Amino acid sequence: MPAAGLGTRFLPTTKAVPKELLPVVDTPGIELVAAEAAEAGAQRLIIVTSPEKQAVTDYFQPQPELERTLAERGKDALLEKVRRGPALIAAETAIQEKALGLGHAVGCAEGNLTDADDAVAVLLPDDLVLPRGVLTRMAEVRAQHGGSVLCAFDVPREQISAYGVFDVTDTDADDVKRVRGMVEKPSPDEAPSTFAAVGRYLLDRAVFDALRRIEPGAGGELQLTDAVALLISEGHPVHVVVHRGGRHDLGNPGGFLKAAVDFALEDPEYGPDLRDWLAERMSRS
Ligand code: G1P
Repeated sequence: MPAAGLGTRFLPTTKAVPKELLPVVDTPGIELVAAEAAEAGAQRLIIVTSPEKQAVTDYFQPQPELERTLAERGKDALLEKVRRGPALIAAETAIQEKALGLGHAVGCAEGNLTDADDAVAVLLPDDLVLPRGVLTRMAEVRAQHGGSVLCAFDVPREQISAYGVFDVTDTDADDVKRVRGMVEKPSPDEAPSTFAAVGRYLLDRAVFDALRRIEPGAGGELQLTDAVALLISEGHPVHVVVHRGGRHDLGNPGGFLKAAVDFALEDPEYGPDLRDWLAERMSRS
């Protein structure tokens, strides 16, 4: 999970708090994404972060002192919440010293892999993909076709230049397409399709070799998209699972607020009151 960014869109808060720890109701976005990885069978989480953002990794460590206090006070529900993150998955850190791009960040995790790891799932903590479960579907597709499998959303063409975009052909399965090429942040008229990458990648280990061979691309950064495109050009099978559900972009305050409201409306404790308040607030405009 790449989590080294400066979070400039959340300044001034991100002077002191990593954006990955901002609460969606009461739970940091990064825990929601880690839970998704764990549900799909991941046992280890490599958080690629900067030396200044140690708090992100700390979040996944047990807090014995706090747990003892909560246990003594009989706060069982809170105790359960405090233990939930560390119990999900074994988190470890890889350091990205400089923000040289998503491709560079993923490359920083290579040293944490063992010989047994033949693939790696990359989850961008800014992207909440709903309902959860797309990674499991992606693993099925990798088992069937081999190679690498990414998650795609069909997005409106006018928004396409914010994404990595796929050039695809159909397969026998409705939700699976074979990828012929991939380009990072094309203009709408140059985009090969409206199928965009949205923060879930199941990548063959071969990607690390490709990452060593790419040059800086869009925005002057080392792009994961370009490494995937290089693999495709060398005959490596790449497919996408087209996810028809919803998603939230936690990477900017506007998207984050929508996610927070969406989750809060579903929350048994806060939902009913929020719903009434929102309706009343909207009637005032
Ligand atoms: C990154 C990737 C892009 C992908 C997007 C999904 O871009 O480079 O290919 O479509 O995440 O959110 P970023 O949003 O970091 O500019």
